[in-house]
Amino acid sequence: MARNILITGASSGLGAALAQAYAARGVHLFLAGRDLSRLSEIAALCRARGAEAATAIVDVTDRPLMAEWIAAADRAAPLDLVIANAGVSGGSGWSGGESADQTRRIFAVNLDGLVNTVLPAIEAMRPRRKGQIALMASLSGFRGFPSAPAYCASKAAVRVWGEGLRGGLAKDGIGVTVICPGFVRTPMTAVNRFPMPFLMTAEKAGSLMRRGIDANRARLSYPWPMAAIAWLLAALPPHWTDPLLERLPAKD
Ligand SMILES: NC(=O)c1ccc[n+]([C@@H]2O[C@H](COP(=O)([O-])OP(=O)(O)OC[C@H]3O[C@@H](n4cnc5c(N)ncnc54)[C@H](OP(=O)(O)O)[C@@H]3O)[C@@H](O)[C@H]2O)c1
Repeated sequence: MARNILITGASSGLGAALAQAYAARGVHLFLAGRDLSRLSEIAALCRARGAEAATAIVDVTDRPLMAEWIAAADRAAPLDLVIANAGVSGGSGWSGGESADQTRRIFAVNLDGLVNTVLPAIEAMRPRRKGQIALMASLSGFRGFPSAPAYCASKAAVRVWGEGLRGGLAKDGIGVTVICPGFVRTPMTAVNRFPMPFLMTAEKAGSLMRRGIDANRARLSYPWPMAAIAWLLAALPPHWTDPLLERLPAKD
């Protein structure tokens, strides 16, 4: 069972839920985010469950700082599990869709930020031939949606990169789990003004993710009806599904 666990984006939503799902006596958590007061609150909740929790204010796009933070955490307590969770989405409800700045920001955080988490984690775990890495993708990474092109593309890249890494890292004794959630109630989805089918609480998602990561499952897609819809949308020819997807509401 993982004892020394590092989580990015732990100050909110799914990252906070994961931190609490793992918090227990004997567990050492390294939690990062950018909002100190929210991050400190989550760390306090984890300590109340008996865990040791160290916090760090780190922007995942800061490659040298991420490498330094992860190496320092690994020296303090050799990491068993690293969860690359931090991510952002953006609106698309204005004419012209996503701005260039927003497109670049989404790729920088969701993709470069995740790479800045995963590569130092591999470097730390490989010599020990032991460890687990979880990458936060999304069911929206199975098909590009006109309401969130950059977000969908960033999550598709995360999913496919994680799937590819898994085969190679298994030889080094490192497990890889790609997480593909549907809609989960978090600050990220709180701004959505459209119906979110099968919306799940972060707490329920946290315990589902913990079980799947602990079992080194290759891919965690939930809830299953949304996973089935995502699979179908990806399987059908785009010219069949475009007219439907074009009618979906934009994100605020
Ligand atoms: N909620 C869903 O329905 C859903 C579904 C599929 C996938 N996901 C994915 O799950 C992950 C967590 O999302 P969430 O719903 O929990 O959203 P959230 O509540 O907005 O949390 C996002 C977390 O990422 C952190 N973060 C954002 N930009 C960062 C940066 N540049 N550097 C460091 N940390 C940064 C935030 O930290 P601060 O707040 O401290 O800045 C926060 O802790 C994301 O990757 C998201 O794409 C969410």
